[in-house]
Amino acid sequence: MERNPITDLRETRFKSVEWVSEIESTNTELLRRAREEAPEGEVLIADIQTAGRGRRGRVWEAPAGTSLMMSILLRPPPAAFNISQISLFTSALALATISAIQELTAITVQVKWPNDLVTDPIELPTNPIDGDFGYRKIAGILTETVIVGREVNALVIGIGINTDWPEVPPHLEHKASSLNLICGKKTDRDLLSKKILINFEKRYAALLEIGGTTKLLRELKSNSATLHKQVKVEMLTAAESISVIEGTAIDIDNDGQLLIRLANGDEKTINVGDVHHLRPLPR
Ligand code: BTN
Repeated sequence: MERNPITDLRETRFKSVEWVSEIESTNTELLRRAREEAPEGEVLIADIQTAGRGRRGRVWEAPAGTSLMMSILLRPPPAAFNISQISLFTSALALATISAIQELTAITVQVKWPNDLVTDPIELPTNPIDGDFGYRKIAGILTETVIVGREVNALVIGIGINTDWPEVPPHLEHKASSLNLICGKKTDRDLLSKKILINFEKRYAALLEIGGTTKLLRELKSNSATLHKQVKVEMLTAAESISVIEGTAIDIDNDGQLLIRLANGDEKTINVGDVHHLRPLPR
């Protein structure tokens, strides 16, 4: 079942990288292993997921060979972080991936708060319906936890990167794209995964140190596609309905939360939500 094991990860905690041809979901499988005491550092990559999952219960689908689908099992010591800071681990993977893409291609990728990677905006004549103004999604991250008592016992961070699409499907026109379609060459998924893991090791290790969030937050802000943009945020309320706010994304706080300034000057802190980048307001 194993395919193409990655070998050069000796300096990292990711020594057990398993690449399978097909699985239900790499996140689901690592969550299962986490509950069975699997150690930190296990990595699972699949060519096909039969039940791939995205954020907010969405399905994540990708035909074989068109994307890199990888999950990582982590067990950060509970004393090293606050439960409200979990999104910083997600950001660490996002930034590690941006850095890996920059090492391999000339593509500029940024973080769309909280969990998406997007490319440079393209000029669009109008706001796309149900899309983001000019930005195309290249990757998405799904972070899930195993909670024991009141503590995070394990964290599974899964990423799906659009690496080799034959073309952009019509329903995703202006909304998503793939590395090969932007840079014009096939992606070496082995190399990409390896570079991501090496880059992630540095950021993850730093996050576990005292004061380790400062550098990551600086990097996150300078690679943010969302900061200083006009945004619409959809949030799930406690009553399971959707609440929507619009405003300007003015900052990311020390826990990785997004600060929005509304038109009336009020400020809101967003912990989880779906962000849409809107056409800039006329000056
Ligand atoms: C999103 O954009 O909604 C997040 C998508 C996350 C997809 C990845 S693919 C690898 C891992 N396994 C899953 O089932 N989901 C994540």
